[in-house]
Amino acid sequence: MKLILPYFRQFKVQILLGMVCMIIVDGAQLIVPQIVKSAVDVLASDSLDRAMLVQQCIFIAGLGVVMTVLRYVWRILLMGSARNLEKGIRNQLFAHAMTLDPAFYDRVKTGDIMAHATSDINHVRMAFGFGIIVLVDTLLLGGAILAIMIWTHPKLTAMALIPMPALIFFTRYLGKKMHDFHTTAQESFSQLTEMIRESFFGIRIIKVFNFESLVSERVDHAATDYYKKNLKRAVVTALLRPLLGFFFNISSLVILVYGGILVIRNALTPGELVAFLQYLGLLAWPVIAIGWMTNLFQRGLSSLRRINTLLESQPRISCPDNPAPMPLLNRHIQFSHTGFSYDDSAPVLSDISLNVPAGSRVGITGPPGTGKTTLMYLLLRLYDPTSGEIRLDNIPTTGLDPDALRSSIALMPQEPFLFSTTIKDNILMGRHLDARNLDRVIQTCDLTDTLAGMPEGLDTRVGERGVTLSGGQKQRLALARALVEKKPVLILDDPVSQLDTRTARRVIAGIYNLTQGTTCFIISHRLSALAACDKIYILENGRIQAQGSHSDLLLTSRYYRDAFAVQQFEATNET
Ligand SMILES: Nc1ncnc2c1ncn2[C@@H]1O[C@H](COP(=O)(O)OP(=O)(O)O)[C@@H](O)[C@H]1O
Ligand SMILES: [Mg+2]
Repeated sequence: MKLILPYFRQFKVQILLGMVCMIIVDGAQLIVPQIVKSAVDVLASDSLDRAMLVQQCIFIAGLGVVMTVLRYVWRILLMGSARNLEKGIRNQLFAHAMTLDPAFYDRVKTGDIMAHATSDINHVRMAFGFGIIVLVDTLLLGGAILAIMIWTHPKLTAMALIPMPALIFFTRYLGKKMHDFHTTAQESFSQLTEMIRESFFGIRIIKVFNFESLVSERVDHAATDYYKKNLKRAVVTALLRPLLGFFFNISSLVILVYGGILVIRNALTPGELVAFLQYLGLLAWPVIAIGWMTNLFQRGLSSLRRINTLLESQPRISCPDNPAPMPLLNRHIQFSHTGFSYDDSAPVLSDISLNVPAGSRVGITGPPGTGKTTLMYLLLRLYDPTSGEIRLDNIPTTGLDPDALRSSIALMPQEPFLFSTTIKDNILMGRHLDARNLDRVIQTCDLTDTLAGMPEGLDTRVGERGVTLSGGQKQRLALARALVEKKPVLILDDPVSQLDTRTARRVIAGIYNLTQGTTCFIISHRLSALAACDKIYILENGRIQAQGSHSDLLLTSRYYRDAFAVQQFEATNET
């Protein structure tokens, strides 16, 4: 409720106006049978007065027009505010999801969050944006109709209502079944779409491995499943209307038979009988709505609960209450006895101690999967260490505002991620850089020739996730993105893995040139790229196995010496 009330408040004028229109429509609906009643009674008494008949017809027609217009108005007003509720909750949910840290996304499936953002929000809108209003309408209209019917003839009313409990029971029961089948059909549908999405995503692999028929078969299977579940829902839906009609016809029959007898006995006028039948027709909607509403509310409540759970999940990494002011100048980084594990089981990093003086360059190397990338994530506070600490200019990073911390660190990630927009937008990401400096960055990343070969240069669109680019091109774009702003700390996670030795050497030299005075971490397997680093750490199984300068390590580390010899050999053969 806390989530919903503000939206009601925001739109209170519209909602109130809509409700007033709705109540007027209800009132008009109740008047029509009364007019019909007097008209029929005049007819039945053989004292037909044409002028009066015409007058009443005009009155009914007028009411009809007013009702149509007002009904249109209240639907727009109330449904509009329900859509506003939907929009508001969706924005709130997305904004909250953006604050959550990567550890949350390690645990929760993207599909679940998507479901919250789509069907759960729809359920909430249906129940609370619209349902509450319909409920008011139902109770008012239904109550008034019943009152009039009872006032006209209590016994006839009682008899006409005999089938009603059965009717309410069936709408509720079938409504619940419909909802259950709807949910399973919905789940089946998301599986189907996910499967299709994945197939397009992996189209190259599918083609190379001749997986087409296998994938088609799986999609066919999922589509059949979806079809079957929809069919079940259709069966129930199809049953609902005829059943409702059946019960109402029974009521009409009762009214006709018993009411007819009453008219013959002169206990009821013919006009009253006709009006009675009309009121019964009007009662159909409130009765159906009650069954429907209860289902809607149950569904809306459970959706609301799920949304609230997501909104209440707190990021593990957030700004401390009194964040320490960001140190201004130097960027001296110390890891002291830092340990980390993703899921509280096997540690990924243990007892890592690094001392990185401001403005120095540090190389990190080691076999894949030993925690190099993870170590940099700790520095960026995408995750926090499970033991030990990291200090930036002697302030523990956990005492800093993560946003402020990240704004002083540039990262080129190991796996470049490109958005489906132009190359320029991908590099700048909303930041500004004058043409001359942008050109310098592009040159450093060895992209000048690549861009010259593209139809629209910097304004070329890269396609979804950069499919139109080669791996090396994507990598250099990600590098350019990291170099746009000169930040005090720069992390390059495997920057030249997709480049040939000569280009790599050129790019690395360019980076060094462009980032004078920056505290720089370079992760690479290519040891020649690390040779100019002030210090190199070799990581193995999450521990520092050796450290020193390039020349130190050639003497002291067998791993380093062997790897370097192999790479030298390859490089000479390449050229
Ligand atoms: N999000 C994650 N959840 C759980 N384990 C992870 C996650 N990311 C990486 N790992 C594990 O952590 C270890 C170190 O990974 P990583 O830091 O990427 O290694 P490197 O960069 O040295 O290749 C690997 O064993 C990997 O399987
Ligand atoms: Mg890595």
